[in-house]
Amino acid sequence: MSEAPVSAAPQWWRDAVIYQVYPRSFADADGDGMGDLEGIRSRIPYLARLGVDAIWLSPFFASPQNDAGYDVSDYRAIEPRFGDLDDFDRMLETAHAHGIRLIADLVPNHTSSEHEWFKAALAAGPGSPERARYWFRDVDAAAPDTPPNNWQSIFGGPAWTKTEDGKQWYLHLFDATQPDLNWENPEVHEEFQSVLRFWLDRGVDGFRIDVAHGMVKAEGLPDTGGDGTIEMIGTTLAPFFDQDGVHDIYRTWRPIIEEYEGDRIFVAEAWTDSAERRALYLRPDELHQAFNFDLVLAPFKAAEFRKAIDAEIANNAGVGAPCTWVLSNHDVQRHVTRYGGGEIGLARAKAATQLLLSLPGVVYVYQGEELGLNEVLDLPAEVREDPTFFRTNGEQIGRDGCRVPLPWTREGDSLGFGAGGSWLPQPADWAERSVEAEDGVEGSTLEFYRAAINLRKGLRGSVTGLTWLGDPGDDAFAFDNGALVCVVNFSDEPVPVAGYGTEVLLASTPLENGTLPAGPPDGFPHSHAGHAGAPRLPPRGPCFTRLQVYQLPSSLALTLIGSSSATRPYCSLTSWYSPASSRYRCSTGRPSAASEMRR
Ligand code: NOJ
Repeated sequence: MSEAPVSAAPQWWRDAVIYQVYPRSFADADGDGMGDLEGIRSRIPYLARLGVDAIWLSPFFASPQNDAGYDVSDYRAIEPRFGDLDDFDRMLETAHAHGIRLIADLVPNHTSSEHEWFKAALAAGPGSPERARYWFRDVDAAAPDTPPNNWQSIFGGPAWTKTEDGKQWYLHLFDATQPDLNWENPEVHEEFQSVLRFWLDRGVDGFRIDVAHGMVKAEGLPDTGGDGTIEMIGTTLAPFFDQDGVHDIYRTWRPIIEEYEGDRIFVAEAWTDSAERRALYLRPDELHQAFNFDLVLAPFKAAEFRKAIDAEIANNAGVGAPCTWVLSNHDVQRHVTRYGGGEIGLARAKAATQLLLSLPGVVYVYQGEELGLNEVLDLPAEVREDPTFFRTNGEQIGRDGCRVPLPWTREGDSLGFGAGGSWLPQPADWAERSVEAEDGVEGSTLEFYRAAINLRKGLRGSVTGLTWLGDPGDDAFAFDNGALVCVVNFSDEPVPVAGYGTEVLLASTPLENGTLPAGPPDGFPHSHAGHAGAPRLPPRGPCFTRLQVYQLPSSLALTLIGSSSATRPYCSLTSWYSPASSRYRCSTGRPSAASEMRR
C-alpha cells in the first residue's frame, strides 16, 4: 500500500467517505481490554486500504467514561485508558501519512461532573459565577421534589438532579454526570473557542459537534409538551433542541476554522424535525456538514429511501452544502440487524451501502459495518455500560450492542482486538467475520466494501447530481448520478434491468442471466417478469452475498444486489456508467490489485 499525504484537492469533504472509529472498541494495543490510540495507529494501513478519506474519532479526551467519553473532564487531555498526547500526535501523523484526515469529536453541550468547572460550581454554591456556567435552579421549598420543569433526560428519568445539600437542581439532558453548560455565559464561548484552537493547532482536520442542536435552551426553560420525554434519535420538537440561537454560536466558530489551512470542517450531529431545519446549520457562514439520519430511521422500502434522498438533496442544494448519508453509528442498531439480520439483513445492508456510495455527497461508515457485523442483542446485564440501560432500569436495552469490539483475527484473545480480552464480549461467530477471515476472500463483505469505496473514489469529481430514471415503483428505483446509473431492487421478486447500461461494474449479488444488453430501458421497474433470458436482479438466493465486478471496455456499470422474501423483503441494486463518460476499471484482491479506477 502506498503512503500519500492528504489530498490537496479543495473541498475534499464534499464527496468524502468518512469512517467512524469508536476508540473503546477499535483496537487495543496495551492489552487492557479497551481500545486505544496506539491500537488505532497500528490499523491505519487497514483503513487506507479500505479507501476512506477521513476518520471521525469519537471522544478520546479525559473522561470518567460514564457515557463512553461523551462526558469530558478535560478537553485538552487524552483519556489515560486511550494513551496520551504523544500517542495522539503519532496517530495523527500516521493517518496523514496515509492520506487520511482526522475529525475529532467535540462535546460542547455538557461536561463531565468531574470537570474542574463543575467541581468548582458545586464548591462555590448558589449564585456564584462558577454556577453560572451551568444551569442551576433553586429548589422550591414548597415543592422540594418538583424539578424546575418537566424535562426528561434523553437517557431516561428526570433531566434535573439535586445538589448534595438539597438546595439547588442542575440540568443534565443526558446522564446526571453530564451537566449541561450554559451557553448564555460568555465564558463558555471563550473556553470552547480556545479548545477548538488547541486541537486545530495540533493538526486535526475538523470537528464533529456532539448534540449540535442542543446547546441553546428556550428562554425561561419552559415545559415540553406531553410528559417531557424526548428521544435522542428522533425528530420531536423540544425547548432544548434546535433553538435558533445555536446558529449564532456556529457563526463565531466558522471564522476560527477558516483561519487554518487545509480545508478543515465542522460536521453537526443535529437532530431536527425536518431536512429544511437541518439545512440551516449548513448556511455558508456556519457548518460544513450535518449528519442526515433519515436513512437510519427509514424502513428498507424504495419509496421511503427515495423520499429521504430527495429531501436531503433539495434542502442542501438550497444552502450549497453537500448531502450526508449514514446507515449506522455508535448510537443506533447496526443496519444488518435493522434490516432483518442473517443473510437477508446482510444482503440488504450491502445493497443499501452501495446505494449510499452512488449518491452525491458524503458517506459515513461505522467501524465494523465493512465486516458485516450485526448488533449484539444478548449482552448480559452485568457487562452493559450504556447509561440508558441503567437509567431505564433495563427497559431500554441501550447502545452497547453496536459497540462490541471489532474482530481482527479468527482466533486468539478477543479475536485479535487485544491481548487482554475485550470490554464487551464478542459473539463466537464473529471469528468468521473477522478481518482475517474476510481479507482477500471473494464475496466477503470486506472485499465488497473495499471495491465499492474505491470504485466511488475513482468517480470523484464526476458525480454531478441525481436524476431519477423511469417511473419508480414501490419495489425498485434507478437513478443516474452523472457518472453511473444505479438500480436498486428492494422487493422480493427479480426485476428486469436491461437498458440502463451495457455492462455491470459492481454487484452486491450477481445478476441473473449475466451481462446487460445495451438499449433503452425496457420498462423496469413496472414489469417484474422481463423476457426469458433477460438480465434480472435476482430474488434471494445463494448468490446474494457475492460481489461481482466486471471490466468494462467503454462504459461502466455498478451493481448492488440483495433480496428478501415477501415477509422479509430483499433488495438488489445495480448501476452502470454512462457510455459517454470516462472509462473505469475495477477489480478486487490484494492491495496492489485492489479496486483500481481510472478515468
Ligand atoms: C450523542 C452521542 O452520539 C451519544 O453517544 C452521546 O451519548 C450523547 N450525544 C451525549 O453526549
